[in-house]
Amino acid sequence: MKHIVLIGMMGCGKSTCAALLGKRLGRTVVDTDTMIEEQTGRSIPELFAAEGEAYFRDLETQLCRQLAEEQNLIVATGGGLPLREENRELLKKNGIVFWLKRDPEEIYQTGSMEHRPLAQQGPEAFVERFRQRAPLYELAADYVIEQFSTPEATVDEIMKNLN
Ligand code: S3P
Repeated sequence: MKHIVLIGMMGCGKSTCAALLGKRLGRTVVDTDTMIEEQTGRSIPELFAAEGEAYFRDLETQLCRQLAEEQNLIVATGGGLPLREENRELLKKNGIVFWLKRDPEEIYQTGSMEHRPLAQQGPEAFVERFRQRAPLYELAADYVIEQFSTPEATVDEIMKNLN
């Protein structure tokens, strides 16, 4: 079976929804940030500080190539991963891609942003980043999810589209 891939802004609930989906469907859940941290032995903030964003983005692409050879996973992606065309193509190759399109102001207010290097410039910059990314998330997505009353409701919506 194809992967189920969740994309969207940092803090929008990808990891939480991926964990719930994994439980409901009995499928293995992976998180690209966690995989990169495990593969490099370094945290995301450490990687950004020591090596810079471009280095991290190359690691994401390598990981997409690896995931394109596998099947049947629930994949929570880092928020910037779908920005590269190659990554979008690799995700679509063997995945059904869901964009969790949640209001960026609400994400910024309710999410924990301390450990996210690209969320340190305040709410306006965060909303602007969302505006710039939205067309690329749209391109990457097979389905757009806009139901965020609870993580369970979000997952119900994803399941409806799968069925
Ligand atoms: C990023 C999102 C983060 C992480 C890195 C960059 C981004 O993942 O990959 O800090 O560019 O949006 P989350 O979406 O899990 O926070």
